[in-house]
Amino acid sequence: MDAKVNKQQLNWTELGFQYHRTDYRFCAQYSSGSWNRGEMIASEVIQVHEGAPALHYAQQCFEGMKAQTAADGRVLLFRPDLNSERMNMAASRLLMPEVPRKMFIDAVQETVRANYSWIPPYGSGASLYIRPMLIGVGENLGLRPAQQFEFRVFVSPVGPYYKSDGLGVISLAVSEIDRAAPNGTGCYKVGANYAGGLLATRKAQDKGAHEALYLDSAEGRYIDEAGSANIVIAMKDGSFITPNSNAILPSITRKSLMVIAREQLHLKTEARPIDLRLEISQFEEAAACGTAAVLAPVGRILVDQQWHAIYKDGQTVGPIMQELYDRLVGIQMGELSDAFDWCHEVKF
Ligand code: PLP
Ligand code: COI
Repeated sequence: MDAKVNKQQLNWTELGFQYHRTDYRFCAQYSSGSWNRGEMIASEVIQVHEGAPALHYAQQCFEGMKAQTAADGRVLLFRPDLNSERMNMAASRLLMPEVPRKMFIDAVQETVRANYSWIPPYGSGASLYIRPMLIGVGENLGLRPAQQFEFRVFVSPVGPYYKSDGLGVISLAVSEIDRAAPNGTGCYKVGANYAGGLLATRKAQDKGAHEALYLDSAEGRYIDEAGSANIVIAMKDGSFITPNSNAILPSITRKSLMVIAREQLHLKTEARPIDLRLEISQFEEAAACGTAAVLAPVGRILVDQQWHAIYKDGQTVGPIMQELYDRLVGIQMGELSDAFDWCHEVKF
């Protein structure tokens, strides 16, 4: 199942961020207190009981990762141990069983190997998106945790998350809808956070922005994050900052960018509350970052019915974000030295 075979005949450079059915997915079941071994299966359809807690009470979590083809043909994952850790944090929070780290990493690797023909080639600008998920299944009605769970990993070749050419500039609109409460589930990758955000994204798009920008829900002052990505900001004073909030997803991309900014660009980095209205005039460059988003420079932000251009005309990529993008993607695609030991090769 894991033999290297010819690539699919896809128009790789034209791919958007859409589901594309691939050949195999990993699937394991948990019941009576333990996981079975799991197996690779062909069907993309999950059959669940109509009473499943995942369907009614959102007892589910997921992850997002990418596999890239390097110039020398190696297939690389980016810091998959952190996705395993984060999924288990969500699992504990929602009273679901943890997926042992080895099982998680093995399942991801096996699914990537089995779908070799779907891994976009080097230089195509596309990658293989990996979606591990954990759902509460089985019969249930009252508000209590499931007795059975399914862990599944599927993959799909994807192109850029935001429609633009190359490193495109995006715009954000501040949302009047909150995403997560200060001590709620905002820092976990759980579906419930996203269902509540669909309307916020729609409203932001209706205003001409790509995405919603959430402020803290206690005071509506401090930047939390965007609908599908964290925020990083290069300030006019030379510092490089990101929100310090317990209501945002701890982004692996952001964590990595902060290290690159500090260690390689020698910027003074800090995670601190960022008062949007008070500080926006001091923003030199801003970006949204995440696995799907990679690093998307934010050109304009709509705040209180007024658009604010961040860098220059709001449509230009600034030098700091360009440099960070080049270094991050360079490491992820094996073009630059993996100085921090972040890449994990999937061996065939
Ligand atoms: N914030 C939200 C709400 C997300 O959905 C994501 C995507 O995973 C991120 C941030 C970025 O996290 P990561 O860089 O780990 O993909
Ligand atoms: C990711 O970046 O992996 C995500 O899960 C974001 C999602 C909204 C596509």
